[in-house]
This record gives sequence, C-alpha cells and structure tokens, in this order.
Amino acid sequence: MRTAQRPSELIGQTDMLRIHSLSELTGCDIYVKLESQNPGGSIKDRAALQMIKDAMQRGDLKPGMTVVEGTAGNTGIGLALVARSFGLNMLAVMPNDQTPEKERMIRLHGAQLKTVDPVPFRDQNHFYHTARRLAEENVDYWWANQFENISNMRAHYLSTGPEIWQQTQGQVDIFVSVAGTGGTIAGNSKFLKEQNEQVEVWLVDPDGSGIYHYLKAGDYVSKGSSFTEGIGIMRLVENFKHARIDAAVNLPDQDLITLSRFIRDHDGLVLGSSSTLNVAGALMAAIQRGPGKTIVTFACDLGERSASKLYNEHYLRERGLQLEAEPIAQLIERYRAARDSIWFAQG
Ligand SMILES: Cc1ncc(COP(=O)(O)O)c(C=O)c1O
Repeated sequence: MRTAQRPSELIGQTDMLRIHSLSELTGCDIYVKLESQNPGGSIKDRAALQMIKDAMQRGDLKPGMTVVEGTAGNTGIGLALVARSFGLNMLAVMPNDQTPEKERMIRLHGAQLKTVDPVPFRDQNHFYHTARRLAEENVDYWWANQFENISNMRAHYLSTGPEIWQQTQGQVDIFVSVAGTGGTIAGNSKFLKEQNEQVEVWLVDPDGSGIYHYLKAGDYVSKGSSFTEGIGIMRLVENFKHARIDAAVNLPDQDLITLSRFIRDHDGLVLGSSSTLNVAGALMAAIQRGPGKTIVTFACDLGERSASKLYNEHYLRERGLQLEAEPIAQLIERYRAARDSIWFAQG
C-alpha cells in the first residue's frame, strides 16, 4: 500500500491476477496484470506520465502550457490526469466513434475535448493530424505524439516490464499483448528479453488491423473490422519498431463475446474489449505451447469503458455478431486446430 501526494504518483505497481478458469482448463498459469488499477483506469497512464516527465525534463513542456494529443480516449484520460499534477492543461482530439464512456471521462477530468469524424490516416482531418496541426498553430501547445514518441515505450521498459519480472519471480515463459502504438509490446518485450532471451512474445491483432499481415508479409493489409478500441494500426510507427515479437495471431470479435462472458461468469472479472483480446491470445498461446507455462498479459483498462459496445446486445446484433457464446470446449478445439494461421518469427 502506498501513500501519495498526487494521483500521478500512484501510476504503476499494479497487481496480477491468475485467471483461474482458463488456467485450470489449459494447465498453464494465465495471469492478467490489472492495468485498470491505474488512477486513470488504463495502461496508458504509464505512457502519459513518462511522456510528460521526459518533455518537462527536456524543457519542451513548461507549467501553464497545454498538452494536445490525438487519442482513442485512454491516453487522453491519462494525460488529463497527469497534466493536472504538473500544472498543465489538456486538449484531447478523439474520433467520434469511440465509446462515450471515454469521452465523458476526459470531460470529467476538466480537459478540453475536440471530436472529429473517423477518417483514414491519409486524410488531413484524421485525429492524429488534427492534434499535430493544433500544436503547430499554438506556441503554448505541446503535442505528445504517442505513436512516434518513444517515452511511451520507455514507460513500459522502466516500469511494467520490471514489475512483471518481479511478480513472476523471473518465471514468465510467454508474454502476450495487443498493440496500438506498440509502446506496451515494445517496452515490455525489450525488457523481458534482456532478462531472459527465451521469453516468448505473442502479439494479438483484431480484424481491421494490419499488424499481423505486416509481420507475415511485410505490408499492411487488413480484413474486416473490429469494435475494439485503441488497438490495431495500418502503418509502422516508431514505438512498434522496437517490439521483439516471436508469434502473432489475428482473432475475430466473435471470440471476445464468448471469452468476456466466460471470464465474467467464472472469474468475476468484467474485461474491456482489448483486454479480452489479450486473454484470447493468452489462451491461444497456452493451447499451442502446452501445460506448465507461465503466461502474462494485461487487463488494459476498466471493463466499463466497453459497456456500450462489447456488453451492448443491441450494438452487437447490429454488427451481425452472435450473442450466444460458443461453448468454451469448442473454442478451445478451434484454437488447437489454428496452428497454421499463427505467424512464427522463425519458420
Ligand atoms: C484499451 C487499450 N488497450 C490497449 C492499448 C494499446 O496500447 P499501446 O498503445 O501501448 O500499444 C490502448 C491504447 O490506447 C488502449 O486504449
């Protein structure tokens, strides 16, 4: 237990929870690190803190200035929280198709919020370009740029990775992560492999993202779409370049309906959509690699932030998804048979 002067001091040092149900089914120890415990409710608090600390140390960012960032929401919430601790203001630019839960939280923090239409990256009205432009037009704005700013991955190299190493007493065999900016998978994979080169790193990619295809074939091609948020990307960014990945798998939204309900009902844990994808990837790795492995992944944010999509039957039905969860034994059999669809770094 800690006593702090500011919420930003309580970022990190999150607990790890063994997913009892899936661990018993697979004979592996499958852990989720509860990043939802961060004061802003997500893993992105860590990146937000490191980006602001590094920029202040360099002198790029000074009290009274405004942090501006293009975000799917969680980075905006993290930056809003950290900005207050350092006497800064916050302006988040968000596409307007993200869950209203995150928009509301940015406003609750007293940050400014600008929403824009979701458009392809090449369009100058994309949230990323809008944030950059706002910073260019205002001398007292500082653009965090989480995609290219490697303070993002440093946060995980300096804090998340060492915590995982300590919490597993160096026994982690497999690390599983989704990727948006790639900061999480880059910083953690770099740190963990420096401790033990044998730690295997798995990336899980949703439909609509090109990372899996990029690793397999060298270019960004995607199929379908996904209701997950903050993850998946169609371009190579600086943070992701530092990731050391051994295996990658692409999994559909339908599996998230099955697994989120299964874990809610058996473990009492309500996972958000990217967190459920992480757990699906961990289950895949457990089945493919066999019993006895220690596997670590993340609950990236609060499950409530996915209430209006992953847990909204009307929304799921409209997207043409089946509300009925697949029997877990059937999903496990499918995952067992999926070996050919997994990308492995060597052969
Ligand atoms: C809920 C959630 N999960 C995962 C991620 C991806 O993390 P990273 O940007 O470090 O790849 C994000 C990023 O915004 C997120 O909001």
